[in-house]
Amino acid sequence: MRQEPVIPKQVVDLLVKAAREAAGQAYCPYSGYPVGAAALTSDGQIFTGCNVENASSGLTVCAERNAMFKAVSSGCRELAAIAVTGGTSRDPAMPCGACRQVMAEFAGDGLQIFVAGLTGRRVTAVTLGELLPKAFRLDSKKNK
Ligand code: THU
Repeated sequence: MRQEPVIPKQVVDLLVKAAREAAGQAYCPYSGYPVGAAALTSDGQIFTGCNVENASSGLTVCAERNAMFKAVSSGCRELAAIAVTGGTSRDPAMPCGACRQVMAEFAGDGLQIFVAGLTGRRVTAVTLGELLPKAFRLDSKKNK
């Protein structure tokens, strides 16, 4: 199994800050629930995203997927960490199931996910393996 590098606290803080800034761009007139995400790629770049809702609600795209798709469409396919900010410090937004599966496409089970509210100091660290145990992966992506 791949050993994931520890993400230094300064980097975590940077990611949380970037995710909160991105949440400021959220288009969420239906839910009123802004979310931001900041994906750190293995080459050290940070890609941010926010949720973008739609009157046809199934077309809404979460902040995490927007951040990851920005990374991939910029040529970065390997995630090193991702911060997600939404909700309150006591009850922060957790990545939805669809976003967890997309994370599994571009990271291993050890991916570090940092979850925080839109304000406050509390940051919770979880791994993708904890949020999505036994992820569905096709053979070609095994052990990646
Ligand atoms: N949302 C995200 O952006 N990320 C998640 O992981 C959970 C949900 C958004 C989608 C929708 O715009 C709003 O939060 C309320 O569901």
